[in-house]
Formats: sequence, C-alpha cells, structure tokens
Amino acid sequence: MTARECPARTNGTCVYHPDGMKLEMMTEEDVELRIREETDPGMMAELGGPRSREDIERAHARSLALAAEGECWPLKVIPDGSTSPAGEVAIFPSSHDGETVYEIGWMILPEFQNRGIASQAVREVLEKARAERKFGQVHAFPAVTNGPSNKICEKNGFTNLRECEVEFAGRRLRCNHWRIYLF
Ligand SMILES: CC(C)(COP(=O)(O)OP(=O)(O)OC[C@H]1O[C@@H](n2cnc3c(N)ncnc32)[C@H](O)[C@@H]1OP(=O)(O)O)[C@@H](O)C(=O)NCCC(=O)NCCS
Repeated sequence: MTARECPARTNGTCVYHPDGMKLEMMTEEDVELRIREETDPGMMAELGGPRSREDIERAHARSLALAAEGECWPLKVIPDGSTSPAGEVAIFPSSHDGETVYEIGWMILPEFQNRGIASQAVREVLEKARAERKFGQVHAFPAVTNGPSNKICEKNGFTNLRECEVEFAGRRLRCNHWRIYLF
C-alpha cells in the first residue's frame, strides 16, 4: 500500500505508509507506549537507566506541543499486521554544544526487535523529511556501546563525527555524534 492509498490518511492520523509499516503522529494516549519503553531497565540500559513516570509525562507533553508547532515529529511505528505500535522514531530539537540542532531517536519494544523495524523506520522518516525539506541536518547521539543504534546510523548514511559527552534526562552518557545532511 502506498502513502496515497492509506485510509487512515483521511482522518490525519497516518502520516506515512511505506511498505511494511505505518508511521503515525503520536497522541496524548501514546504516553503509555513511552512509559512502557522508558521505565523498562532493559530498554533504557544504553540511556542511563529507567526514567520516572512523571518525567516521561512531562517529556511527552512537551514533544506534542512542539509537534503542534511543526518543530518535532514524534512518530509511532505500526508494522503491517499489527494493531499496536512496535515502538517509535522521533525527530526533535535539542541542544548540543550550545546550539539548537535536530536530533533523531528510536525505540522498538523487545518483542519486535531484530526484524529490521528500526532500520526501516529511520530510513523512511529521513526520506519523508528530505522530501518535505524539513530539518536540514539531523544528528544522532547513540551511546558508544549501543551496537544496534550505531549500526542504524551507519546504514542510513550518517557520518560519525566524534565521541562526546551528552546529557540525557539528567544523566551524562558517552556517545558517538552522528550527522546526516538531508538537503
Ligand atoms: C536500538 C533499537 C531501536 C534497534 O531496534 P531493532 O528494530 O531491533 O533494529 P534492527 O532490527 O533494525 O537492527 C539494527 C541493526 O543492528 C544490528 N545489531 C543488532 N545487535 C547488534 C550489536 N550488538 N552490535 C552491532 N550491531 C547489532 C542488526 O544486525 C541490524 O543490522 P543489519 O540490518 O545490518 O543486520 C532497539 O534495540 C531498542 O529499542 N533498544 C532500546 C532503546 C535504545 O537503545 N534506543 C536507541 C537510543 S540511541
């Protein structure tokens, strides 16, 4: 099914429907997806450990407010054949070395991992941003020990600039700084 044929586009929920998955803008209810992901010690092992529910609720509300201004794409990933999201990929403004940059992040629930879902979702989101001439350059900061995430950056045409310290949710992480020019 192509993006044009996706029935959910008519009510504005489906923002992109490439083969194999559907990408939808997250809503208030999707805070539950984020709570499941971000309170899980396994999912958060490379992100400094689980976050509190209150912290996640605040972050989700901020992300939806920025999305309403067109400054953030918090997208849930729904694989074809699934009624529930497998996870998310998001492009959002963040601060790096005193500058505001657009950052991309991703999370896929354990039962959906290792099927290429994150790799495809990242590829599709970058393609959509390029087609819409949004965001210009996109940065990613996976922890240096996050094998799958560094692989996703490499496979999707990012350049690894250098290692750096990044603050995420009040923790300091040793990360690789990857960047891609979209246009
Ligand atoms: C990172 C994450 C999103 C990957 O999701 P996924 O859908 O399983 O990823 P994919 O199936 O697309 O696989 C990504 C690639 O990493 C590779 N990979 C898997 N484990 C690896 C490891 N330990 N070291 C190196 N590469 C690895 C896979 O083989 C695949 O590459 P390939 O397609 O060339 O074979 C998922 O593991 C996750 O949500 N982790 C917890 C949250 C997190 O760390 N988010 C990222 C923060 S930057």
